[in-house]
Amino acid sequence: MFEHYLKRWDLTLDGSAFASLNGHLLPVRQHGMPAMLKVSQVAEEQAGSLLMAWWDGDGAAPVLAVAGEALLMARAQGSASLVQKVAGGEDDDATRILCAVVARLHAPRDKPPPALVPLTHWFEALWGAAHKHGGLFEQCANTARELLADPRDVTVLHGDIHHGNVLDFGPSGWLAIDPKGLYGERGFDYANLFCNPEGASALAPERFARRIEIVAQAAGMDRRRLLQWVLAWSGLSATWMLEDGIDPGRPLEVAKLAAMALGSDIKVME
Ligand SMILES: Nc1ncnc2c1ncn2[C@@H]1O[C@H](COP(=O)(O)OP(=O)(O)O)[C@@H](O)[C@H]1O
Ligand SMILES: [Mg+2]
Repeated sequence: MFEHYLKRWDLTLDGSAFASLNGHLLPVRQHGMPAMLKVSQVAEEQAGSLLMAWWDGDGAAPVLAVAGEALLMARAQGSASLVQKVAGGEDDDATRILCAVVARLHAPRDKPPPALVPLTHWFEALWGAAHKHGGLFEQCANTARELLADPRDVTVLHGDIHHGNVLDFGPSGWLAIDPKGLYGERGFDYANLFCNPEGASALAPERFARRIEIVAQAAGMDRRRLLQWVLAWSGLSATWMLEDGIDPGRPLEVAKLAAMALGSDIKVME
């Protein structure tokens, strides 16, 4: 599957190929420069590749070439990782780095973006789950409906911001990979980091509360609006996991934390 692009883009092998959730990756070099070749048949990934090219290295990995299923991008060479930072107790730092990258990705550009999917399309899956399961799913869906009916600060979105999708590019800083090609309210892009990285630490109530404060401040977002996006997104994430036969315990735990924080907000306001 890589052969054609190796010839077409004049690449040499520089490591072993591996499969990821949505595609296949191969470390290569182009004229000596370390690069990563990703091939994916998933339409969402392909839309994301065009968006990544549009970002032109500002907030996301520089794209060297893109053609349908194939994406050639600069390879992260730095030794740090946000997952390691979290494991090493530098959670605040990791959260602030994610916020800074998101802000760069959301900054307006003076050229029209490529074709993007509206966030409302993604959330359609949640309506069915709310109907079927009720309870927390219904709460997530109601919140999502409220948010989507009155979007604020609509922009180009990454769609999958988490600690494994922002990499250390050494002198070029932290840059995102793996965008999905969406648009909608900017608050959405800050929600998924609350479910990550894997492991128990993100689910600890004190950690959750601290991240909410850090993100609200770094993003300049209303705390309540941020909690609503976390609640809405966790419900959608849990819906997809159920569809895929994966235990949705993790996003549902995050949804509970967000719902509880929103509930206490209401009490405070009364
Ligand atoms: N440009 C890159 N530089 C270095 N590593 C990369 C790069 N792109 C992808 N990777 C590695 O491959 C993994 C999977 O790539 P990703 O695009 O996130 O695939 P998926 O869509 O399946 O999540 C990443 O988590 C990272 O470890
Ligand atoms: Mg990824």
